[in-house]
Amino acid sequence: MSGHRHPPPDLLVDRDGLTALFDEVRPDRVVHLAAQAGVRYSLQNPHAYVASNLDGFVNVLELCRHRGVGHLVYASSSSVYGDSATPPFSEDQRIDRPRSLYAATKAANELMAYTYAQLYGLHATGLRFFTVYGPWGRPDMAPLLFSRAVLAGRPIEVFNHGRMRRDFTHVSDIVAGILGALDLPAGGDAVPHRVFNLGNHTPVELERFIAVVEQAAGRAAQKLYRPMQPGDMVETMADTARARAAFGFEPRTPIESGLPPVVHWCRDYFGDAA
Ligand SMILES: NC(=O)c1ccc[n+]([C@@H]2O[C@H](COP(=O)([O-])OP(=O)(O)OC[C@H]3O[C@@H](n4cnc5c(N)ncnc54)[C@H](O)[C@@H]3O)[C@@H](O)[C@H]2O)c1
Repeated sequence: MSGHRHPPPDLLVDRDGLTALFDEVRPDRVVHLAAQAGVRYSLQNPHAYVASNLDGFVNVLELCRHRGVGHLVYASSSSVYGDSATPPFSEDQRIDRPRSLYAATKAANELMAYTYAQLYGLHATGLRFFTVYGPWGRPDMAPLLFSRAVLAGRPIEVFNHGRMRRDFTHVSDIVAGILGALDLPAGGDAVPHRVFNLGNHTPVELERFIAVVEQAAGRAAQKLYRPMQPGDMVETMADTARARAAFGFEPRTPIESGLPPVVHWCRDYFGDAA
């Protein structure tokens, strides 16, 4: 949520605390990015996803409704495309075959937001992010995992034997997309709820991705090839035409320029122990 720097870790499920925050900040608009993120951990701890992503999400919706918030922009995910879609994923493709509980909670968020838009006229926009990376990124995702391991000379696990393609999207492009979507007026739709893909529109082979990390780190990766992980997707690729048409979304960062600074950031931040 914008306007509050250090929310407590359970704020989404602490209804009184969240209400107090809304009353203190009195937001005109809300950008809701907090969630239990990540596919793999949802296999181990499903209840954390139900708490933050379902209970927490309805708490945010309720407060937006009752406090007259003008626009709610929330994070969905490319993982909603699951088994049904064929790349490039467009917003018109079906999202009712998620491959993980995480993906199911994100698809559910879109349905829940639609309901609030339909019932109460809440203006809401869901953004389906595609594999976001950058400095200060998530330590459980490939960009930081690989960068740190290669820098420290540790082996990396390469899933599906490297036969994966990901639409890696730099955080600066995601931020531009969030701000573009936030400024969109409700428009003339009968139900003021929309979803947009925010991706780089350029899937990258995992091996190519690793090669860029190696070059930036100045050393070779030790690769341990592994089978496909449950819940993972072989390829993601965003069709970004809808976001481009609506608010001029134009990703500008290829991995060749976006990834080396992440590797260098890891070296500076984590030091030799990377
Ligand atoms: N990083 C990606 O590639 C990616 C891709 C698709 C979607 N998303 C979505 O984007 C959003 C941001 O993801 P991220 O990668 O920055 O993840 P992150 O884990 O770095 O950030 C999520 C934040 O939510 C907070 N949070 C979780 N449960 C909470 C709760 N109950 N109360 C208060 N705070 C809580 C966490 O403490 C964390 O700071 C998430 O909604 C995620 O599902 C991310």
